[in-house]
Amino acid sequence: MRYLVTGAAGFIGANYLKYILKMHSNCEVIVLDKLTYAGNLLTIQEELKDSRVKFIKGDIQNKELVENIFMRHDIDYVVNFAAESHVDRSIENPQIFLETNILGTQNLLDMAKKFWSIGKDEKGYPIFKQGKKYLQVSTDEVYGSLEKDWAVAQELILNESVRKVISGRKTLPTGYGESFFTENTPLSPRSPYSASKTAADMLVKAYEDTYHMPISITRCSNNYGPYHFPEKLIPLMIKNVLEGKKLPVYGKGDNVRDWLYVKDHCKGIDLVLHKGRLGEVYNIGGFNEEQNIEIVKLVISTIARIMRDEPRHQKVLKTELSNISEGLITYVQDRLGHDARYAIDPTKIVTELGWYPETPFVEGIEQTIRWYLENQEWVNSVTSGEYQKYYEQMYQGS
Ligand code: NAD
Ligand code: TYD
Repeated sequence: MRYLVTGAAGFIGANYLKYILKMHSNCEVIVLDKLTYAGNLLTIQEELKDSRVKFIKGDIQNKELVENIFMRHDIDYVVNFAAESHVDRSIENPQIFLETNILGTQNLLDMAKKFWSIGKDEKGYPIFKQGKKYLQVSTDEVYGSLEKDWAVAQELILNESVRKVISGRKTLPTGYGESFFTENTPLSPRSPYSASKTAADMLVKAYEDTYHMPISITRCSNNYGPYHFPEKLIPLMIKNVLEGKKLPVYGKGDNVRDWLYVKDHCKGIDLVLHKGRLGEVYNIGGFNEEQNIEIVKLVISTIARIMRDEPRHQKVLKTELSNISEGLITYVQDRLGHDARYAIDPTKIVTELGWYPETPFVEGIEQTIRWYLENQEWVNSVTSGEYQKYYEQMYQGS
């Protein structure tokens, strides 16, 4: 099993690399990553020592480089995580999102097609070598935004087949609306980021229809967990709480996201890669909706509790423990075109492949916060340099 994993120095790709090395002793992995501000070799430093891993620094848009990789290695699976992934940055500078997310995807598809096809059938379609697959890691943001029907979360009525999704949870899941994203929801992206991811998905699908290319697409809800870059909501809030800085909440803080622990996502991706039907889209998420403001409050209270109960952690604080309170919350100008609600219906992956989100949110968020407390060196390393400039520009005055 020879994987080409792109973007594996970033948040989800790195977690995926760690997962497959643990799960598949016989795998070999070529990592291709441009090491943008979001990619960091420190994140995968242990994996780079593994003889099964080869790291190549480069851009997925680079034809010569990607061609060379396919020429030198008999790649079985391409798993494409490489992307510009932050909505706020896409609002400031859409161009690079279109280049990396769309043209980069096209380049990978072209090279995979070139090296995986071994002739043509009687109708002129390429014939692909057995066992090859291209998996595009996509997002639920391609579906656009759902209505937020209720101001207060209500208990969800789940059908029998997806009861497994919530097995083990102490409380029944709640949500903020009646509708969910399914694989059949029309694509309706609303930010430059999601528009670029949608275009990439459509290209992948077009290669399936036009060339019978062996592909799968996964669309996931918001991830959280270790190695999450502190420009996204949860790691940014953890970092700012520890520093006693203001916590910038966009608008009223009532936008809803559906949170999934990154390791559960990685498991879902690998399952789709090996067991998913060719040409299919699988949504990955698990009835874990919450309003942003509640997430921020939970981060504050969890950190305050850990600090009080386990004073040894207080050494990472850059502020007095007494400053860690909801008083840090500051409401700032809303994001342009801010999507109101994301919520995934994972029935397909649950019923077809037996996947379910194993990590309850209360456990996942505590594990994540503890990871950040133990890994301040990583945080300091990834936020040195360009990050400071970005933060000043993005949150000036707050
Ligand atoms: P990330 O921003 O943390 O990491 C992206 C990685 O891609 C980095 O290592 C970066 O260096 C690399 N990269 C960027 N441009 C590149 C290029 N042109 N060539 C090669 N490498 C390049 O992103 P993430 O949060 O890990 O997301 C990974 C994928 O999952 C993305 O495709 C994203 O759209 C998708 N996704 C993310 C989430 C989420 O909650 N983070 C949810 C659903 C889907
Ligand atoms: P983010 O982590 O950027 O993910 P996405 O926009 O892809 O869902 O943001 C999650 C939610 O948190 C989103 O509704 C925007 C909001 N948010 C804030 O309120 N403040 C912040 O500083 C950030 C980064 C996000």
